[in-house]
Amino acid sequence: VTHRDIPPPQGRGADRSGAWGRVWDAAFESVRGPAREACIQWWRGRFAEREGVEAVLELGAGAAALASRMAAAAFPGARIVASDFRGGLSFEPPIEFVADARIEALGFPDASFDLIASQFAFEYAPRELALSEAARVLRPSGQVLLIMHAEDSHYAGYLGERIAVLTAGEKIADAIPRGRALHDLHRISLKRAVAGAAQLRERYVGKPGWENVLQDIDSLRAIGERVLTTRSPALSEEEAFLLQNCRDALILARDQQAASLSEQGLAAFAAQGRAAGFLTVAHERILSADRRVVGWGLRLSR
Ligand SMILES: C[S@@+](CC[C@H](N)C(=O)[O-])C[C@H]1O[C@@H](n2cnc3c(N)ncnc32)[C@H](O)[C@@H]1O
Repeated sequence: VTHRDIPPPQGRGADRSGAWGRVWDAAFESVRGPAREACIQWWRGRFAEREGVEAVLELGAGAAALASRMAAAAFPGARIVASDFRGGLSFEPPIEFVADARIEALGFPDASFDLIASQFAFEYAPRELALSEAARVLRPSGQVLLIMHAEDSHYAGYLGERIAVLTAGEKIADAIPRGRALHDLHRISLKRAVAGAAQLRERYVGKPGWENVLQDIDSLRAIGERVLTTRSPALSEEEAFLLQNCRDALILARDQQAASLSEQGLAAFAAQGRAAGFLTVAHERILSADRRVVGWGLRLSR
């Protein structure tokens, strides 16, 4: 997925995240292959421990809806609901899809589900609200199962790299006064941003799996160079879109990185969980076959 494949973000908050949904989905599918296998194993293990499950809710399911798919296989005949605050996702029965489902303000009645599952999504919602909503819609003997980003996970590392590229884009955007002649000061900072992008390029060239990142760096550098060598530096629609997207993605990537859980963050999470009515909060690291940290697996019970 490149910026060319993504529809321009519209609005703020949920709407903007909707536009970035495709990036989330692509990140999971393409970058995180071995991690996906580790998640599959974790869901399979957790679901095998449960009996008498009649209704399962997945939060922030995205296009992968991995927990829902695993639950559909593990609990034949159960109601399986995949939800997200995005729309436009569809699934084959028995999985029902519910759009506009904000983790922090769910539309489901109290005590509707035996299991609530979420993979790399629960942490994007305000945590206290997310926990109290989960406690509300869960049946008394139910469990919440979460896979969350760990601070040292491959995904957090991926976001770190992404932020480096986006920052280069943001600097270029700062250096270009749109529709006006270039001031000397802007020219100097634009030269710096272009040189920075060239340096960044060296880190990714020939690195399998990072072709998208390289493409972004090259696009950003090309915009900078074009503006430096053109008398009238007005941006084309596509260039303006790329720079705007860089800013939006930067904000989003920072939010996501901030959502990653450290060992210390886990203690705070457990305390918030107890305040919301969960007595047990167990956690374990999930590792892929190549020993990378995929994330935390958390279990919350009454
Ligand atoms: C990193 S993606 C994970 C998607 C999928 N579960 C996976 O593992 O590939 C985060 C997902 O959470 C959704 N999301 C983010 N914040 C949300 C919120 N506050 N309420 C509901 N869904 C949210 C996004 O639309 C996105 O699909």
